[in-house]
Amino acid sequence: MRYWPHGVSVLSVDYEGDRMGVTLSSLVSLSLEPPLVGVSVGKQASCYELLRRAGAFAVSMLGSEQEEIARRFAAGHPPIVHWAGVATREGEIAPLIEGPCVGWIEARVVAEHDVGDHTFFVGDVLSAQPGPGHHALVYRDREYHAV
Ligand SMILES: Cc1cc2nc3c(=O)[nH]c(=O)nc-3n(C[C@H](O)[C@H](O)[C@H](O)COP(=O)(O)O)c2cc1C
Repeated sequence: MRYWPHGVSVLSVDYEGDRMGVTLSSLVSLSLEPPLVGVSVGKQASCYELLRRAGAFAVSMLGSEQEEIARRFAAGHPPIVHWAGVATREGEIAPLIEGPCVGWIEARVVAEHDVGDHTFFVGDVLSAQPGPGHHALVYRDREYHAV
């Protein structure tokens, strides 16, 4: 899979004011009617329990100029500095990453599937907004690329 390109997004969750974000390559479009997306999140990920409790998530689909954001939310910063210096705006469900994103999606979890060391969450899309980013951030062979 290392050689297979994946778009990069940041999943964010908010459970009663506790907020976390994580860099994600597993966002997938599942259905148009109804609109459903899927994300696969590691059971060891620091946002995992928060996501299960919140039962909802947001994804900011990163633009090619947002590599620093991708690196940051893959680095496992502790809660106290988790969002420090990151420009966000309030979504309906969780904070959305500001800046030249390709788009934003907010979804409510409608199914969870146990998939080994990850859980695959199916999200019913509540809102989807295009962003100003013209090029997407893509990860392949441990490097980021603009597509
Ligand atoms: C490009 C990229 C894509 C990633 N995609 C996923 C993913 O789809 N699901 C996942 O659980 N972790 C994914 N990760 C790992 C997490 O971003 C993160 O590094 C890991 O959960 C450890 O951070 P934490 O301690 O904050 O959980 C990805 C990392 C990178 C760099």
